[in-house]
Parts: sequence; structure tokens; C-alpha cells
Amino acid sequence: MTHAIRIHQVGGPEQLRWEAVDVGTPGAGQVRVRHTVCGLNYIDVYQRDGLYPAGELPAVLGMEAAGVVEALGEDVDGLAVGDRVAYPMCQGAYAEARLIAADKLVRLPQTISDRQAAAIMLKGLTAHYLLFRTYAVQPGDAILVYAAAGGVGSLLCQWAKHLGARVIGCVGSEAKADIARDNGCDHTILYRNEDIPSRVRELTDGEGVAVAYDSVGKDTFMASLDALRPFGVLASYGNASGKVEPFSPAILAPKGSLYVTRPTLATHIATRALLEEGVTRLFGAISDGKLHIQINQSYALADTAMAHRDLEARKTTGSTVLLAE
Ligand SMILES: NC(=O)c1ccc[n+]([C@@H]2O[C@H](COP(=O)([O-])OP(=O)(O)OC[C@H]3O[C@@H](n4cnc5c(N)ncnc54)[C@H](OP(=O)(O)O)[C@@H]3O)[C@@H](O)[C@H]2O)c1
Repeated sequence: MTHAIRIHQVGGPEQLRWEAVDVGTPGAGQVRVRHTVCGLNYIDVYQRDGLYPAGELPAVLGMEAAGVVEALGEDVDGLAVGDRVAYPMCQGAYAEARLIAADKLVRLPQTISDRQAAAIMLKGLTAHYLLFRTYAVQPGDAILVYAAAGGVGSLLCQWAKHLGARVIGCVGSEAKADIARDNGCDHTILYRNEDIPSRVRELTDGEGVAVAYDSVGKDTFMASLDALRPFGVLASYGNASGKVEPFSPAILAPKGSLYVTRPTLATHIATRALLEEGVTRLFGAISDGKLHIQINQSYALADTAMAHRDLEARKTTGSTVLLAE
């Protein structure tokens, strides 16, 4: 019998239930994947607590996993039973096995383990689009990265450093500041105590940063705007502290003709070409040694509720994986 983590209603971690499910057989264009390792991402919390829709209930949560193809539907090219695969951003990952559209899958090279893939597909592709598409970081740019010891933040800081940026990382504790420095941060801000815009001005000779990659949302939005240089970009890409309040674009003019964007990975992997471009760059950065994958927590898939509690309590660093076998 196959098991999955489902919610029957939105709410706290206690809503995550380990239940028997019927996976079925793959239809045209689909494959059945047996998961070995699933990823844990903050979006899973938003779906569990109702900030983002989770679809029809009961719903299997989870957006990312790695595993092995165990059955093919009709009209599937380029994949075979036994292939090692992974995927980002397809709800239904918290399961021992699932059906999924074949064109969402990426075959894994031998150099990347299932655990590594489940740790970096969604987070690493997010770091990729933020650094190369949302704002193309240039050598010498001062940039601001929130949750710099977290899942996306760890990869973002390491990659930005290799692009030649001067990286300022915001972190929630001294222990996380050490991790952020290991991730390549030139400076850290303990943003629960320190004033972000004034510290950024101090560190940038009054100029401000070229881009703020803000995953915290509600609590930091205005501070991020005030930390930007003229024509700077605020990439508001997450809501760990809650959704950003509505604001008037008029406030952007006196602060220096600023740009604000609210990007999502979904758009950045919406076509096969976009997905493959990101994956090629991501796997390349790993094999070139630019990115070190830090899997700092692992839980049995059945214990996903505990993983959610730790993620929301800001106890985790780097990536977290959920073991499905
Ligand atoms: N738009 C996209 O395409 C996209 C894709 C992937 C992820 N994201 C976003 O990126 C962010 C990071 O995701 P992740 O999975 O890698 O998580 P994570 O960064 O490992 O964990 C979240 C971190 O956010 C910080 N935080 C600040 N205020 C918080 C609060 N009130 N409650 C909980 N945490 C708070 C904490 O770090 P400190 O203690 O250092 O503050 C915490 O460790 C999330 O906001 C997520 O939604 C967006």
C-alpha cells in the first residue's frame, strides 16, 4: 500500500496526516514515480495554512521530490522504467509514489544523488532565476539577501558570490550569521535587532544595494525599499512573515525611481526550454563546485508535521529532506 501526507482542512502542522492512498496507473503523457526523497519548502507551509490554495481537499502537499520511474503511460518519450528523476513545483510530492506529467521531470546525472536533487531542485532553480533573470547580478554589485542561512538563501548567497557580488545577508541569529558567512556573505545583519536600511547604508558608503531579494515579506518590505540604491530592484519573492500589505506605486518615486517585482518559479519553469535552461545552469554550478548543497535536516516522510514545525519555528538551516524509503 502506498502512503502520502494529506490535509483534509487547512491549519497547523497537526493537519498533516499519513494516509494510505491509491496512486493508480499513468495516463497518456504521464509516468508513475516511486519517490526516494522529497523536498521541504516554505510554500508547503503556505498551502497547509491556507495562505496559498492547495486545491481540492483532501490534498497531498509537497512540491518537489526525487525518485525512480516505475511505469510509463502512452506517448511518453525520452524516459524509461528505472530512470532516476526529480522535479520542482508539482504539488503532490509528499507521497511514496505518484503520477506526474512526464514533461515535468528531469533525468538526474550520476553525479547528483536523490537526496541532493530533492534538496536543490526547487530552491536552486529559484536562486537561478532571481540571480540571472529577475535582476542580472553584475560583478561589484552590493546585494541584500534575506534568510541567508536558509534553503534558498544559502544557494543564492553562494552563487551571487561567484558572480562577483558583495553579499549582505540578513539572518535571525548569530549561529545563522556564521552559516551565512560560510555561504559567502561579506557582511551579515541580525535583522531581528538591527535596522536594515541604516546598516546597509553604512556598509555601502551611503549608496544602497542594487537588489534586495526579500523572502520575508510583510515584516521587511519597507526596509527593503529603503535599503535600495536609485533604480534598485526589490524582488519580493516570499512571505515567511506574512503577505506584504498593499502599497501605492507613488512611494517608489521619491525613494529613487525604484522597481518592485513579485516573481514566482512557476513562471520561470513554465516551458520545457525555461526549465532545461535553469537545470543546466544549476547542475553546472554544482559540478563546477560553485554551490555546496547543505542538507542540514532530514526526517522520515511520515514525520513531515515535525519538519513543518521546525521550519516555521526558524530552527532549520540550509535544505531539509523527507525520506520516503
Ligand atoms: N517566489 C518563488 O519562486 C519562491 C520559490 C521558492 C521559495 N520562495 C520563498 O523563499 C523563502 C525561503 O524558502 P525556503 O523553503 O528556503 O525556507 P527557509 O529560508 O529555509 O526558511 C524560512 C526562513 O525565513 C526566515 N523568517 C523570517 N521571518 C520568519 C517568520 N515570521 N517565520 C518563519 N521564518 C521566518 C527564517 O530565517 P531567519 O531566522 O534567518 O530570519 C526562516 O529560517 C520563503 O519565503 C519561500 O516562500 C519563493
